[in-house]
Amino acid sequence: MNIEIETNAARIQQLPPYLFARIDEIKQRAIASGVDIIDLGVGDPDLSPPRSVIDSLMHAAEDKGAHHYSSYVGIPELRDAFAKWFEKRFGVAVDPECEVLPLLGSKEGIGHIFLSHVDPGDEVLIPDPGYPVYTAGTILAGALPRYFRLRHESDYLPDIDELEDLVSYNTRMLWLNYPSNPTTAMADMETFQKIVKFAKEHGILVCHDMAYSEITYDGKAAISFLQTAGGKEVGVEFHSLSKTFCMPGWRVGFAVGNAEVIKALAKVKTNLDSGIFIPVQKAAITALLECEEDAKKLCDVFKTRRNRFVEGLRDIGWNVPLPSSTFYIWAKIPSDYDSMEFCTLLLEKAGIVCTPGVGFGNFGEGFVRMSLTVSDERLDLALNRLKNMNITWS
Ligand SMILES: Cc1ncc(COP(=O)(O)O)c(C=O)c1O
Repeated sequence: MNIEIETNAARIQQLPPYLFARIDEIKQRAIASGVDIIDLGVGDPDLSPPRSVIDSLMHAAEDKGAHHYSSYVGIPELRDAFAKWFEKRFGVAVDPECEVLPLLGSKEGIGHIFLSHVDPGDEVLIPDPGYPVYTAGTILAGALPRYFRLRHESDYLPDIDELEDLVSYNTRMLWLNYPSNPTTAMADMETFQKIVKFAKEHGILVCHDMAYSEITYDGKAAISFLQTAGGKEVGVEFHSLSKTFCMPGWRVGFAVGNAEVIKALAKVKTNLDSGIFIPVQKAAITALLECEEDAKKLCDVFKTRRNRFVEGLRDIGWNVPLPSSTFYIWAKIPSDYDSMEFCTLLLEKAGIVCTPGVGFGNFGEGFVRMSLTVSDERLDLALNRLKNMNITWS
């Protein structure tokens, strides 16, 4: 007798398809048919981590004791290293015992904090356009996403009046992400102050995703939400080594901020994972404490690419803005297309993978995101192919 196993739990059916997985599917089909794809789709840095970080991992892996399960909350030296890095970088002291929690990449913590903080039926305020995991985490926890719009005209900062309209008795959480993927916007202290006031008035937890904290240009430095007076009372922040030190596959990130919130997240994690590989933790300590200059050099590579690519796009008539942070270009597309059509066109006619703005939310429609995670030569080739498409760009 055949027994059919149903694998579609209701919460899975409610999830929108994970955008990057869908793009990857289209890309794989093109590769299989022999196209030389230039992948500007996924935010996966192509540069190598600092040499000392790799050495540190290899050295630590030789230790016989390194191959056991690690502590759920990371080795104390790692939490100390992050606290030191954080204080040096933002001037805010955090307690490594109770205000810092290592994560298996920041995405893991971003996804899991919904389980420790929201209940079915609760509402979560989410930026649109925004990183899709905020929506996925909300849905998986049985909560309801409520989107607030980030507008180009307002530098992609939240409009407090709109938040006031959206907030309800059931609202438990608000997401922010600066430097922003996909919009490349940076936040200012005044905005964070308004958000702290709003969060206090409504009893809402603010989660600030700062995965791109160190990818900023032209002398601009990103600020932490915890630098705001009262920020730690109402907020937690998510940090990542993936972009700063080009370690996306290593899976190291941190949650930092309100001790009660950190404790609850740790409780969820204790039940779901068993910590980070100890040599990876040792290497992460090296990155945090010894690799400031390396991180700057990596960022400089993205800056050179940014300058070259933006100039090239403008030369062919596509008037894209010069981003002040992240390694993305967030560009308005010609009005004859929607963003999925446009990305399909770029893939079919030029072999270039980009991410349609609509994948980041309805208000991302009309835009495309291009990731500067390929070499100068590949960017030049992309420019050449775009030029040959003979499109009226702007
Ligand atoms: C806005 C944003 N937040 C978080 C992440 C997750 O990064 P990781 O899990 O590698 O730390 C990403 C990855 O692309 C991102 O773009």
